[in-house]
Amino acid sequence: MKLLTAEQIDQAAQLLKADELVAFPTETVYGLGARVFSASAIQKIFTAKNRPADNPLIVHISSLDQLHLIAAEIPDQFYQLADAFFPGPLTIILKRHPLVPAIVSAGMDTIAVRMPNHPLAQALIKRVGEPLAAPSANLSGKPSATLPQHVLEDFKGKIAAVIDGGSPEIGIESTVISLVSGDKPQLMRPGIITKQQIEQVLGAEIDVYRSSDKGKIASPGMKYRHYAPRAPILLFQSLKELEAYLNTASPKKRMVLASERVIIRGNASFFTLSMHTLYALLRLSDREGYEEVLVFCDIEDQKNSALMNRLQHATK
Ligand code: TXA
Ligand code: MG
Repeated sequence: MKLLTAEQIDQAAQLLKADELVAFPTETVYGLGARVFSASAIQKIFTAKNRPADNPLIVHISSLDQLHLIAAEIPDQFYQLADAFFPGPLTIILKRHPLVPAIVSAGMDTIAVRMPNHPLAQALIKRVGEPLAAPSANLSGKPSATLPQHVLEDFKGKIAAVIDGGSPEIGIESTVISLVSGDKPQLMRPGIITKQQIEQVLGAEIDVYRSSDKGKIASPGMKYRHYAPRAPILLFQSLKELEAYLNTASPKKRMVLASERVIIRGNASFFTLSMHTLYALLRLSDREGYEEVLVFCDIEDQKNSALMNRLQHATK
């Protein structure tokens, strides 16, 4: 597996054109890319990640000219959202174009579309000349990758290359919204683009998908344990309770994550929690053999629905 620099982006494009897998940086997390129109390359993504066959992929475009290749019956609301947020960390579910291999969407007749604003992601899609299907570049169930080293950790020997773009601006995955789920748009996964921002642009209320909703699972990815290190993660919302917990004797190697706003006393190793650091710290807990990850969420953290969503999925 090659570690490519920004200057070697042509090599990355050649590999993708030859139906190989290449991981690339986006403004959220690293993606594991393949040509969207190559069913065999897409199959390689599922195999490399050990991804359940019922979990669909996001397709990345560099311009709206590519939209008609992958989606059909595009509603006006798409253009309102694209105007406001593209390129950027928003993924929109539409009807899939019949010529897109069904495996991209895990057999569903819908398709997730995103236009990343990272210059290397944009340049790569342009050079390949077609949209790239790309889930987050991590083994299924592991924290997303926010450094090329994380991609190496998970995929050494299994994929052709990773393009080094340093650490992403945002650090957690895009907001996902469905425009085909029913009467109202539905927020499938929170991200830094908030429900309120979307409602303001659409001038209407949107629904929020809950995994406990009955019936067909509309966003299959949300039913799996995610973003999870080997050690159990315990969430605390009371500083007193956390300090009491830390003061009980335990032979366990403990990691504590908390925002830099708080000071915590106790016997553990302390690290700064933020959207930018979360995944790297969860990976560190695996590498360094921590046996418990204790996360303190203060009132500010609790208001951050994207961060809370990832923490809850990691503890499930
Ligand atoms: O920020 C991101 O979105 C990153 C970067 C690489 O773009 N990608 C990412 O992909 O997070 P992934 O595969 O880890 O998460 C995609 C999520 C999953 O929860 C999946 O179930 C959902 O989007 N999804 C994809 N296609 C869908 C569809 N057609 N209908 C409903 N949900 C879909
Ligand atoms: Mg993922």
